This record gives sequence, structure tokens and C-alpha cells, in this order.
Amino acid sequence: MLIKDSLFNDYIDKNLVEEKVTGICKHDLSHHLDVARIAYILVLEPNDLNYFIRENNLSGKLAAKEVIYAAGLLHDIGKWKEYSTGEDHAAFGSRIAREILPRAYFNNNEVDVISRAIFEHSNISRDMSFLGERLHRADNLSRVCSECDQRFSCPKIRQQEVSVTALEY
Ligand SMILES: [Fe+2]
Repeated sequence: MLIKDSLFNDYIDKNLVEEKVTGICKHDLSHHLDVARIAYILVLEPNDLNYFIRENNLSGKLAAKEVIYAAGLLHDIGKWKEYSTGEDHAAFGSRIAREILPRAYFNNNEVDVISRAIFEHSNISRDMSFLGERLHRADNLSRVCSECDQRFSCPKIRQQEVSVTALEY
């Protein structure tokens, strides 16, 4: 099970060690679970689960749910590396996800779909994947930045990458 994987938990802990120093928004288990659940909602609400299954040759609804949740749970596991070296957290995260996912019994195709979405969640492009686009939107929808103590100094708010106006519903 992914959520109990020791490597996954090591990376989440590394994020929290770095974020104790910086004091900005936490990339903890709670944030990863929020993004996983919102991404799943963003696929279910428009009734797109069957499309997602067909587009990615997944075995069925359970596999699709696991893939979406895995992408959410792993999307920021590379954040600690960005704090310490400046390396893009999404690119690094998409690589280290490839170490963890086979340990949780994801097959090679599922690993490719998840890893690509992790890369795309903060490297947006016109030809990004279906899951990458939902993961990007779920990440933006996961925080109510207008209520945050850091709202006057946070670069994310200045770039309007995340704001309460992103809440579409
Ligand atoms: Fe995130």
C-alpha cells in the first residue's frame, strides 16, 4: 500500500524538515491526500472515468482510482530537493515516484501515466495529459490562500498560481 511505503514517508518527512525553516505552505500527507481526492472528483464529476480508462489502457475503475490517487499522493514528494538544490520538484518527483510505484504493485504502464502527470502538475503545456491537467487543477484548488498567514509574502499568490478565485464551484 502506497501510503504505508517507507520511502514515500521518508520523502514526506524530508519536506516537513525543510518547511520548518521556510515557514511556507506545508507539503505534508494532508496536502497530498487533499490533491488526490480533488483530482478524483475532477475526473468523476464530468463523468470522465471511462474515458480516462480507455485513453490509458487501464484495467478498470479500481485501477483508474488507484492511478489518480497515486498521482495525488506523490505529486510533491520531490519538494524537499527543490528547497535544497533548486532542482524542479516536479521533474525530480516524477523520477523518484518511479522507485516507489513498483513497490506498491503498479505496472509499467500505470507508472508511466502517474510519473508523467507528476511532471506536468507544475510544468504545464498545451499537450499535457488528461491526468496531468486534473492534477494541476486539483493542486490549485487544494489551498484557500486568502486565509493563509503568509498571504502577503507568498510568491504563489502574487503569481495568482493559487487563489480563492480558483474555487470554481
Ligand atoms: Fe501540491
